Amino acid sequence: MSLTGPQLREALNNLGLRTELNSRQMASLARSLQSINNKQKETYEDGWRASLEKFEALLQNTRDPKQILDSMDGPPKTDGLVSAFLGEEGFGIPIDPAGFERMENHIVTVRNGTYLHLPCESASDHRLTGILADLVTEDTHTIVELGSGWGRNLCHLALHLNRDDIRYVAAEQSRSGRHCAEQLLSLVPCKDSSTQAFDFYRPDFKFIERLARNDGKGALIFSRAALEQPAFIPTNFIQLIRDAAPGGTLLIQEPFGWQAETELFETALRETLYSAMYRGGKAHLEGRIFKLTDEMMNANAALWSIVCCYNMNLYDLIQRADKNGIASLERLTFNYTASNPLIPYSLAIMKLNEKAS
Ligand SMILES: C[S@@+](CC[C@H](N)C(=O)[O-])C[C@H]1O[C@@H](n2cnc3c(N)ncnc32)[C@H](O)[C@@H]1O
Repeated sequence: MSLTGPQLREALNNLGLRTELNSRQMASLARSLQSINNKQKETYEDGWRASLEKFEALLQNTRDPKQILDSMDGPPKTDGLVSAFLGEEGFGIPIDPAGFERMENHIVTVRNGTYLHLPCESASDHRLTGILADLVTEDTHTIVELGSGWGRNLCHLALHLNRDDIRYVAAEQSRSGRHCAEQLLSLVPCKDSSTQAFDFYRPDFKFIERLARNDGKGALIFSRAALEQPAFIPTNFIQLIRDAAPGGTLLIQEPFGWQAETELFETALRETLYSAMYRGGKAHLEGRIFKLTDEMMNANAALWSIVCCYNMNLYDLIQRADKNGIASLERLTFNYTASNPLIPYSLAIMKLNEKAS
């Protein structure tokens, strides 16, 4: 199963976009969006295979997870301004540095809505580990990452918590990512650890329900830089998580902050759908430029989202879950940090409400 026409129509209706598309056209648009995500998924399958190979090579010399993490998750590589892979030739859309000067071993990143040019060593932001740790209580028994890649976030967290009564679950679509996470997590202090094949386009949270049993509040579920990938997440996504772990906690660190800027969002939504429908030509993006000023931060994120067909409905889902009593939004921080300054992450922390009896 994949993204369907009716699912897409529902997501668009929720976003206030009425389209003239008939069922057949909507199904075709859904297929196109799904095939874009399939390509993203394949890219990660390959990328995490390289991480797995690196991990297995490191394992020949050490079984110390801290040492392995340090080698695998070091400071970002830069061209003096942004990540090396973003350089104009690599990505094809020019960046106006807006006064930032290329400096060896420095990279532009984001901290709480501001662009900063930092030395690479201090550009990696490990606040997520501390924020997750603050959400952990004596009762926490299960921590799940959705879209966990090769397992770096869970591994950082497990080392920080050093608790042998917590189980960690790495839920990820790629086999290579799961394989790496499985081996990495076998090295950290925990009650147990496992991996789970998981896809945002057909979310099945039975594995969380099984682990949480009657104690949903002991579950902490999070995603970082993963829900950004599918353009339209099923509209009942947060409700399904709540149903699996009522009373639990959900943390989302993803690039949704720009979606709160209504006009910008409406334009980007239309452009994304247009781009998905007529994939192959990015001609309508000609003449566009990323500019590294704080005023342009949301516009940069919108442009990135159009180009990469990134997520369009996460902010809507968060707001609706809060408004409909499915979850209570306890923290919302826009443009909180970034690994790619063109698409900064925002942060939402939600308490998953108990089901009404
Ligand atoms: C930028 S990586 C982030 C990985 C990890 N969260 C981290 O912070 O290192 C994006 C992740 O999303 C996963 N992903 C992409 N599309 C997905 C989908 N439809 N369902 C589940 N995961 C998906 C990729 O396999 C990849 O692991």
